[in-house]
Amino acid sequence: MECKQPPNPRETAWEALSAHQIAVADLHMRYLFKVDPQRANRFSLRLDDFLVDYSKHRVTQETITLLMALADAVGMEQRINEMFSGVAVNKTENRAVLHTALRSPRKPLLIPGIGKQVAEVHEELSRVGRLVRQLHEGQLKGSTGKVLNHVVNIGIGGSDLGPRLAVDALRSFHTNSIRVDFVANLDAQDLGLVLSHANPETTLFIVTSKSFTTLETHANAMAAREWLHGHGCTETGKHFVAVSSNLDVTGKFGIPEEQVYRIWDWVGGRYSVWSAVGLPLAIYIGMEGFMQFLDGAHRMDRHFLEAPRERNIPLILGMLDVWYNNFFRAETLAVVPYDERLRLLPGYLSQLMMESNGKGVTLDEKPLDCQSSPIVWGSVGTNAQHAFFQLLHQGNRLVPVDFLLPLRGAPESNSHHKLVANCIAQGEALMSGQENHAEPYRNFPGNRPSTTISYTDLTPANLGMLLALYEHRTFVQAQVWQIDAFDQWGVELGKQLAGEIIREMENGAPGKQHDSSTTMLIRHFLESR
Ligand code: F6P
Repeated sequence: MECKQPPNPRETAWEALSAHQIAVADLHMRYLFKVDPQRANRFSLRLDDFLVDYSKHRVTQETITLLMALADAVGMEQRINEMFSGVAVNKTENRAVLHTALRSPRKPLLIPGIGKQVAEVHEELSRVGRLVRQLHEGQLKGSTGKVLNHVVNIGIGGSDLGPRLAVDALRSFHTNSIRVDFVANLDAQDLGLVLSHANPETTLFIVTSKSFTTLETHANAMAAREWLHGHGCTETGKHFVAVSSNLDVTGKFGIPEEQVYRIWDWVGGRYSVWSAVGLPLAIYIGMEGFMQFLDGAHRMDRHFLEAPRERNIPLILGMLDVWYNNFFRAETLAVVPYDERLRLLPGYLSQLMMESNGKGVTLDEKPLDCQSSPIVWGSVGTNAQHAFFQLLHQGNRLVPVDFLLPLRGAPESNSHHKLVANCIAQGEALMSGQENHAEPYRNFPGNRPSTTISYTDLTPANLGMLLALYEHRTFVQAQVWQIDAFDQWGVELGKQLAGEIIREMENGAPGKQHDSSTTMLIRHFLESR
């Protein structure tokens, strides 16, 4: 007798969505707006200062219902609770994932069981606060007795992108005269440029590296130390602090333990801006602003945990990502802030989403049966309109777009409405298109999806909310794909091979194990020297 397998709920929900996609694929959004005057209200959500309009998507109420059924089928609610309560959801590294604890109030309101971590977080925040105060009050002096007034963060990936974005985005909240710069690249021109306008006597380096073994950061920190010593600033401890979990190596480098700010193994690099990794931001906008940044993220955490699923912004946006990625086979997500302050957001989100979800194996170590992370890219509007928007409007692939739209612009501007008008017009044009069959090159097919995320102004709290929204949206995608969003094994092989090739270059000859192309390129370089 044949034994019937019980239906797999994920597969059932997936099949229902596939069938539904075929049914709605030819529906034009122009029609959906026409038949439902309430569409904008129906498919938009508000939270504090934010309005999230997802009505310009190729969805009906049934689509949302089916997407929520898929979320249920993968146990989304339980998965969210597990992450917030410190279950080791990073399976391949057997680690809890508690960036949400980094922005929790001292008494965790949300979830019991993470009291110890939250207490440690607040202890560390007090230490960060002390350093910030000392710097602001001019109490910290370099080797030659001069007050430190220039901070250079050395770090890469998650130890760079978050604080760099936040400092750049919150320039108008700068509360003091301390200058903050960032160096990430192994290309010495990056550090060289920053040092060319730095005074060694007044510069403090923050070496930010969770592992403190990252090649780029190590090389830049060594070069910075050499530069200081070359200028007579020989007391390393007076010019360096570190943010790391590797106290052995920071000590060997010459940074006293009391100048090392802690980061825990339950904080992933790309989720770490809320920890002491955010020190450059705390220095730049002050502790009060930094706490508002954390508080904004916490507001989004609460919303993600508590909002009913059809009102839950990260859940809806994450499931829409799945809708296009897996059912329309869109391959990318364009992020277009109509906000110059968010010019670094597309790069930040590339790491967040692609390093988290660019995976091909499930949590059960089986090949993933569908496409994982979209390629995340973009640039600020209106510049992007004059660059790649041609493809968005008339190219023959589907590219969902996120528009970021501040209601308030630069205080000195009397043309902000023009910027806003351009953003709104692009969403309208992508959605409605304009038919011209007589001149096909002038035809705009429309039916191209976009989300508009609007906020009153880019305050520290709103930036915190926005980044936390994207973190949770990334988490939602990962639950559907059933992958580990918190490891990054894919970066290891390149690192390992680079190590081998560096050694071969230092020995003057390529090793025997390479293919002919790699050997030729190594030789080509060696012969150029
Ligand atoms: O690129 C891999 C990676 O581990 C990222 O995940 C991380 O943000 C970056 O390197 C920097 O790591 P660390 O903080 O240990 O120097």
